[in-house]
Order: sequence, then structure tokens, then C-alpha cells
Amino acid sequence: VSRQRVCVQGLGYVGAAMAVACARVGAQACGKPYFDVVGLDLDTASGRQRIDAINSGTFPFETTDQHLLAETEAAVKAGNLRASSDASVIADSDIVVVDVHFDIGDLQPDTLVDFAPFRQAIRTIGERIAPDALVVVETTVLPGTCERVVRPELDLALERRGLPRGGILLAHSYERVMPGADYLASITDYWRVFAGETKAAGDACEAFLSKVIKTADFPLTRLDSLTASEVAKVLENTYRAVNIAFIDEWTQFAERIGVDLFQVVNAIRLRPTHSNIRQPGFGVGGYCLTKDPLFGPLAARELFGLPELSFSFSQLAVAVNQHMPLHVLAKIRSGVGGSLSGKSILLAGVSYRADVGDTRYSPAETLSRAAREEGAILTFWDPLLSCWEEMDAPVARTMTACPDVDAVVFAVAHKEFRDIQPEAWLSGRAPLIIDANDVLTPDQRAAFVTRCTLQCVGRG
Ligand SMILES: NC(=O)c1ccc[n+]([C@@H]2O[C@H](COP(=O)([O-])OP(=O)(O)OC[C@H]3O[C@@H](n4cnc5c(N)ncnc54)[C@H](O)[C@@H]3O)[C@@H](O)[C@H]2O)c1
Repeated sequence: VSRQRVCVQGLGYVGAAMAVACARVGAQACGKPYFDVVGLDLDTASGRQRIDAINSGTFPFETTDQHLLAETEAAVKAGNLRASSDASVIADSDIVVVDVHFDIGDLQPDTLVDFAPFRQAIRTIGERIAPDALVVVETTVLPGTCERVVRPELDLALERRGLPRGGILLAHSYERVMPGADYLASITDYWRVFAGETKAAGDACEAFLSKVIKTADFPLTRLDSLTASEVAKVLENTYRAVNIAFIDEWTQFAERIGVDLFQVVNAIRLRPTHSNIRQPGFGVGGYCLTKDPLFGPLAARELFGLPELSFSFSQLAVAVNQHMPLHVLAKIRSGVGGSLSGKSILLAGVSYRADVGDTRYSPAETLSRAAREEGAILTFWDPLLSCWEEMDAPVARTMTACPDVDAVVFAVAHKEFRDIQPEAWLSGRAPLIIDANDVLTPDQRAAFVTRCTLQCVGRG
């Protein structure tokens, strides 16, 4: 029996890992993979870099997930995973998984939404795909996009090909992929929500996902409509962003009144009803939580003609989260004498998340840009990076001793920072130390506090 062909369109953080997940299923279970997988990206510098990496058996992003690295190599070696920039690979695919990006400009509620790049990706599919094939949209989109943008684009392309409208099975299923030590497992070992446009599309999507995901342990949830599935993704991320933003005002209160909010939160978390209350932190970064909470109001305005629905919680959460790193900046400013001009700061951790090298929309960027504007001189240290693309700056992967700086900010809880021996590392220096994100262990805090001024976000 010939294997089904899966095309994953977009080989970014999600698509590259999804391509490996699809290529390896079956291979582990019964020695034979279920799918032949081809990854498709654009003929751009970054697209080619991702394609070349996969074709040489390497995962295109730095990752600490050894399993993902090994599975990428094994799939390419076995001959059922390759990548290309030639869109004709869509033509003989049974399933096309859409993992292209969907950006919204400046992350403000009044931003203009440009559907063009996403529409282009869908048009590319519509122009080539077999009329009975399945399209699974995994990209996080404004609720309503599948019905109001994807379906019309597909129909237009089908019509131009002399094929009846309504062909192609259309489904939506969103990713919860979490780059980090369990990157691949965050796809295969996680609960999935999906919906089909029709019963047949839903069934086809279910059959596909049941092969990729360990559904015996992580059952699928099928929703009534494509829009419901899109809403689920956006609501899930908005809930998280609101929850994070909510703790910010308590963080500031606790710091002012001498309370350790981590202790308080950990006590509250013992109650099952409150187990996911968030803790104080440095801010929200990454590609999802920064933009997705705006997708509700944008969908209401752009796709449903409901601009009067203001989504005030969601919008406030985005604004509060964007401001959080500036609270840390204020701490540095007052800790170094009231002005940042000419002051040197070592920023330890520039990615958006612990043990991940992704710097997209990282709160460290907000802090760094604002600090530079005030005349501070910054150096960067991150064990997972050697260059910070957004800031066009070099990054030290190691820092065996504290340099001669006025302040050190521990911003991301990379595990390497927890190995620092404060006394040896300081080697006699005494900068202001700020733990912005619960990075340091209690022992490290105790050691720093006897040698320098130590301030911790959330600990009064
Ligand atoms: N990064 C995450 O952790 C994460 C988690 C869950 C969901 N998501 C969502 O998944 C989607 C993809 O995210 P990502 O982080 O992988 O984005 P990304 O920007 O890393 O990757 C997108 C890729 O799609 C490619 N692309 C764009 N248009 C194309 C086209 N027409 N044909 C072929 N390739 C095309 C780009 O070149 C790029 O390589 C987004 O909607 C995101 O919100 C991301």
C-alpha cells in the first residue's frame, strides 16, 4: 500500500516540528511510517535555510530537544521527509497542513490586518491541490478566517481550474507546540481540538490527527464549526495573557508593602480551583501570547462587522503585559542613582522563554530598546544564542565572571543561570542585581544579597 503524502506548508517553529511528527509516526509504532512528508517553504533566504537544514537531516532551529533532533535525522535518512520550495509538491499530496505565519503588524488594537500573505499561501494550495484532498489549517488566525477567507480563496482557485466550488476537504486544528526540551512531544502528546467544514472533512481530519497524536492518552476534541475551533485557540491564549497581566498589579503592590508574592501564590495554588494562578514575572513574549489576544477584537471588526465589541479585558491585558519589562527598567534606574545615562547593564537572558532560543517579541527587547534610549550601555548573555537578530547585537553564550557593569538583570530562567556560584562569579564586583523572573535559587539569592544590592520582581 502506498503511503499517504502529507505536505506541510511553512517550515517555521510549528511546521518544521509538525513535519517531523508526521514523518515519524508509524515508524516508531510498527516500523513503517504512515506518511511521506514534504515540507514546503518560500524561496527566500530564511525559507531556503529551513529547507536546506531539513534536507541535510538537521532541525532548522536550535533546540534542546534531543528526541526531535534524532527523529529529524532518522526521518530524512529513511527517505520519508524532505523539503522544497517548489509548490508543485502540493499537487500529489493527500493532506496539506497549513503552518504559515499570520502577523498583525504593530500589536496594537487599532492595527490594520493584512490578509495578503496568508491569502497567497491558500491560493497556492487552491491552484494545485487535488479536489478530494484535505487541507488542515493550523495557523492561528482571526476567528472566522477559514469560512470567510480560506473557503472563498479555495473556491476561486477551483473555479479557475474548471472544478466545482466546495471541493477540497477543509478543517481547522490548532497547535499548542511548545519549543523547549519537549518540543516534539508537545505536538504528539497533547490534547488537540479540531473541526471540519463538513462531516467528511471532520472525519478526514480526525483520521489524520489520530495517526500523528497519541490519542489513546490525549483524546481529540471535535467542535461544531471551523470558527469554533479558531475561537478555542484564540480564547485559550487570551485567557493565559489576561491571567498573566492580572498578577502585575499585585506584583507591584507586594513589592511596595514588603510581601513575597511567590510565597503567597504558591500557597493559593494548592487549591485546585486556583492552581493556575500566575506568578510575578518579566513580561510576555513569543509569537503567540503577544498577538493572539488581539485576534478577538480584530475578528469582530474585520470579519464580522462588530466593531462595538471592545474586548476590554483582552486589550488591557496586552497593554499591561507590554509594559511589564518597563517596571524592571524603573527598578534599574532607581537602583543606579536615578538615571540610566552612561550606565552599563548586563542582560542575562534575551529569549522570551526559559531554555528556548526564540527571541520573537521578547520582553528583553522592550527593556533593551527603552534602556538604550535613555543612554544605557547594554551587553547580552544567553546560553542559547550567539546573535540577537531583532536588536542586531552579539550575544555571549557564556559569561564565566561578572563583567564590570552597574547592573545585572536576570530576565529568563535558563537552567545555566541556576548553576552560577555567586561569590566566584562576582569575583569581587558588586553590581545591582535584579532577578526579574524568579531565575535565581534561594541559595543564590542568599549569596548575592550579602555581597550586592539584590532586588527581585514580586518579592517585597
Ligand atoms: N511558535 C509557536 O510556538 C507557536 C505555537 C502554536 C501556534 N503557533 C502558530 O503557528 C503559526 C506558525 O508559527 P511559526 O512560529 O511556525 O511561524 P514562522 O514565522 O516561524 O514560520 C512560518 C513559515 O511559513 C513560511 N511561509 C509563509 N508563507 C508561505 C507560503 N506561501 N508557502 C510556504 N511557506 C510559507 C515562512 O517562510 C516561514 O518559514 C502561527 O500562526 C503561530 O501563531 C505558533
